[in-house]
Amino acid sequence: MISYCKKEDLEECVSLHVNTLREGLFYELGENILKKAYYTAITDPDSFLIANKEHGRINGIALGTKNIDQFIEKVRSKCFFDILKGVIKLVIKKPISIITVIDSVFYTGKYKAELLFLFVQEKEGRRGIGTRLIERTNEIFKKWKVKSYRVVFLDSNEKAKGFYHKKGFVLSNKHAFLNIRKLVYVKTLT
Ligand SMILES: CC(C)(COP(=O)(O)OP(=O)(O)OC[C@H]1O[C@@H](n2cnc3c(N)ncnc32)[C@H](O)[C@@H]1OP(=O)(O)O)[C@@H](O)C(=O)NCCC(=O)NCCS
Repeated sequence: MISYCKKEDLEECVSLHVNTLREGLFYELGENILKKAYYTAITDPDSFLIANKEHGRINGIALGTKNIDQFIEKVRSKCFFDILKGVIKLVIKKPISIITVIDSVFYTGKYKAELLFLFVQEKEGRRGIGTRLIERTNEIFKKWKVKSYRVVFLDSNEKAKGFYHKKGFVLSNKHAFLNIRKLVYVKTLT
C-alpha cells in the first residue's frame, strides 16, 4: 500500500536508500545530510515522500518536489556545516567525488518539478511496486497542476532506462562531466 511517510519512517527510508539506490543528490555527502533531505520532503508543502509498505516494512520509495531549487536551498540551509564537513571528508577520501558534490549543492534546472528518488528494494523488483509509485507521483503532480517533471539518473542505469521508457518518459537531455554521464528524462502530464 502506498502512503505518505511520517517522521518515524525516515530512518527506514534512508537505510533503504543507502542499501538500494547508492546514488543521487546528497548521497555522497553522507547519511546525516540524506536524512535532512528526507526530512525536508515531509515538512515542505511543495514536496512529497511516499512509500510502498508491505507487512509493516517499506520496500519502495518516491521523493519529489515541484520546486527543485527551493528544495535544495531548504536542505542547504538546514545543514550548511554538515555539508561543509561532508565535503572536506570526501575531498580527502575520494577527490573525484567532488563532481557529484558540486552537483548536489548547486544543482538547478530548467524543469522546476522533479522526481528526485524512486527506488524499490532489489529483491522486490519486477512486482509492479515501481509502477504504483510512479502512478501516485503522477497523481500528486497533477493535483499540484504540474504540467511536466523530470528525473535524472546515470547513463549506466539500464533498469531505470527500461522503467522510465515504459512509463512514458522521454529523453530530454544528456549531461556529461568528466567520467560521469547523466540522462534527463521528462514526463508530460495530460
Ligand atoms: C527502476 C525501478 C524503480 C523499477 O522498479 P520495479 O518495481 O522493478 O518496476 P515494475 O515492476 O513496476 O516494472 C515496470 C516496468 O518497468 C520496466 N522495467 C523494470 N525493471 C526493469 C529492468 N531491470 N530492465 C528493463 N526494464 C525494466 C519493465 O518494462 C517493467 O514492466 P514488465 O515487468 O511488465 O516488463 C527499480 O528497478 C529500482 O529501484 N532500481 C534502482 C533505483 C533506480 O535506478 N531508480 C531510478 C533513478 S531515481
